[in-house]
Amino acid sequence: MANVIEKGLSQAIAERRATPSFTGELIPEEDLKKILQAGLNAPSGYNLQPWRFVVVHTPEQRKRLRAVCFNQAKVEEASAVVVACGDLEGWRSTDLEEMVRLGLPNGMPENYAAAVKKSIPQFMENHPNQEAWLNRHVMIALTTMMWMAEVMGYDTAPMEGFEPDKVAELLKLPASYRVVALLALGHRKGADKYFGGRFKPSRLVFDDEFGKPLPFESE
Ligand SMILES: Cc1cc2nc3c(=O)[nH]c(=O)nc-3n(C[C@H](O)[C@H](O)[C@H](O)COP(=O)(O)O)c2cc1C
Repeated sequence: MANVIEKGLSQAIAERRATPSFTGELIPEEDLKKILQAGLNAPSGYNLQPWRFVVVHTPEQRKRLRAVCFNQAKVEEASAVVVACGDLEGWRSTDLEEMVRLGLPNGMPENYAAAVKKSIPQFMENHPNQEAWLNRHVMIALTTMMWMAEVMGYDTAPMEGFEPDKVAELLKLPASYRVVALLALGHRKGADKYFGGRFKPSRLVFDDEFGKPLPFESE
């Protein structure tokens, strides 16, 4: 049966921890699809949606994945692990065409469609850091999945501890794909991780210009 808990986002943000250990209890397929769909609804520059996801379900594949994730047990314990990737060549192959095809019947102006067919290749070809461009998109989609899972009452663990080339080989990814991060999903086993705290806003948030703190009531 599907998990029915839907927490408010503020509560989910306050309660979320990077889950140290999972029970392995399965996430119903419909819930997993809802979590994945949330990520696919994330925003992206020009709506190019360069993200790609491999959901690693089966115990055998999760065991193999664990071996290329520095033996992190949660890869094997979680109900599913979403491997978030991006395609550096997506816009060049079919994504640009597909974005325009999808947009036109939904109100995209014809002149915009004609213009982006020229301007996007120019923008991408001259982009100073395509890997950074890809990362920012993949992470926003993965983060959207994380919050959807959390408000639905699941526990999550984002992960960067993996060997990208070995993960790519295991998952048979095309050469233009990059592995950006993993998201383990499931139900927490045992105690949650301690809350490590967060830096004060005055160290991090500025008003109008760097160095002028934006006052927060909590400080
Ligand atoms: C992008 C990213 C990658 C992470 N990679 C790992 C990881 O590989 N293994 C791990 O145990 N925790 C990983 N973490 C969890 C962080 O250690 C954790 O978020 C941080 O210590 C703050 O704890 P909290 O999320 O429980 O507040 C990662 C978190 C993020 C956001």
